[in-house]
Amino acid sequence: MTRVGIDAIEIWTGKLQLDLPNTFAPTKGDDPEKYTKGLGLYTSSMPDVYEDIVTMGANAAKRLMDRRGLTPQAIGRIDVATESAFDNSKPVSTYIAGCLEQVYEGDFHHANKGERKFACVAGTQSIDDAYNWIKAGRHRGRSALVIATDTALYARGDPGEATQGAGAVAMLISEDPSVVELSTDQGYGSADETDFLKPNQQFPSVDGKRSMKVYLARMREALEDYESVAGRTHPDDFAYIPFHTPFPGMVRRAALLGYRHMTRDTEIEDELAAEIGRQPREEAFDGWDAYENAIRDYMDGLKGTDRYRDWYDRTIDPTLTLSGQLGNWYTGSVHLARASALQTAAETGRGLTGEKLLVGSYGSGAQAEIHAETVQDGWKEEIQQLTIDEQIARRYDLSFDEYEQVHDVHNHDKEIDVEEFTAPVGEFVFAGWGRMNERKYEYVE
Ligand code: HMG
Repeated sequence: MTRVGIDAIEIWTGKLQLDLPNTFAPTKGDDPEKYTKGLGLYTSSMPDVYEDIVTMGANAAKRLMDRRGLTPQAIGRIDVATESAFDNSKPVSTYIAGCLEQVYEGDFHHANKGERKFACVAGTQSIDDAYNWIKAGRHRGRSALVIATDTALYARGDPGEATQGAGAVAMLISEDPSVVELSTDQGYGSADETDFLKPNQQFPSVDGKRSMKVYLARMREALEDYESVAGRTHPDDFAYIPFHTPFPGMVRRAALLGYRHMTRDTEIEDELAAEIGRQPREEAFDGWDAYENAIRDYMDGLKGTDRYRDWYDRTIDPTLTLSGQLGNWYTGSVHLARASALQTAAETGRGLTGEKLLVGSYGSGAQAEIHAETVQDGWKEEIQQLTIDEQIARRYDLSFDEYEQVHDVHNHDKEIDVEEFTAPVGEFVFAGWGRMNERKYEYVE
């Protein structure tokens, strides 16, 4: 059987940062701990004036191709996942291919290009498309480039403003991958929901509190569906569980729910019974409300047990390090969570080859997808090449006024001129508009 999965990863963050506890909270009159403790966020990445979804995606892809010594001929597919597209017809992948063709010999004329949309889950769906293409034997020995790129901006004053972010994750999907092999087993939880949407508008309409409930409901459905094909899951089966991470606080909730589900009728439930009782069973209650209250009490107890805390610290917490410093990158978010976990493992000398990850992707609207991955023996070498920590450290720290200017520059309905905050070096930049209102890009040495 051919092994297919993620062979290489590159991450490109927007080059500016908004400091949530020190810059955002004081201006909003909020307690900084709402952001750091409540949401789990410290800084958000923002795009400089010459950055957008194309430049960030192309820059991540170029770094990946350079590092792997790839030519355009080695790529048979370019799929871009985004929910920040600025064109309803011409896909972002064509713009990115156009950028890359400025700097490489050869072209991508024989590569299939597309754009995937389903809120934040589209990055994972693009990986699936690439996986299926290779498994079907249509790839002619070539790899697929999957790029998840977003400028996740909310209208100013929207509660979602604190969870903004901007950046791109480029992934090479190949046979005999170095990082993780994907499994064929998948679970879905999908329903017609109106929790977060952008009906032909740049900034989302969001029902924040409802979106959190929908996330959990769909994720639970996806886990049950996954178990129907892959068998029962156990919390100790997985080295890490990277979730879609709009903000770390969301994952704290999902992890607790997942743990309760996975430990039901296991030795862990038995062991915890003396401390917090057994899990409430619906049939033991007269009404739904009583059952829900009992579940809430059980979860409060569970969250405080050493057993749960140890598992959370080992399996979930390492997936959240990047998110706390970058914010929500929509389509790239779950892929940052995976990278964050692998980076922690590399830094702490944890051996991972052959271990499993359970990956929980999610997109509003709404759909969750869950699958397992097996870590491959080239993972450490690949992950150690990431430069995201240096990129984070180099970001320009915006004052609140500057943040508002940057937000306006990227607002499609506004036209304002703002000087760039950083100087581009060795990267693609937005260079203005063409005669058919297309966006133009150039490479700056
Ligand atoms: P909010 O109303 O500003 O915040 O919006 P809050 O008042 O609920 O506070 C947030 C947390 O901080 C709460 O924690 C507070 O208790 C805590 P919780 O009770 O929920 O555990 N808090 C404090 N903690 C310590 N010290 C303090 C303090 N003050 C408060 N002093 C909300 C929060 C998430 C709703 C908002 O940011 C929002 O609307 N975000 C956008 C929507 C979103 O991210 N939804 C997540 C699920 S949907 C999803 O993931 C899909 C998405 O990525 C889009 C896509 O798929 O395309 C968004």
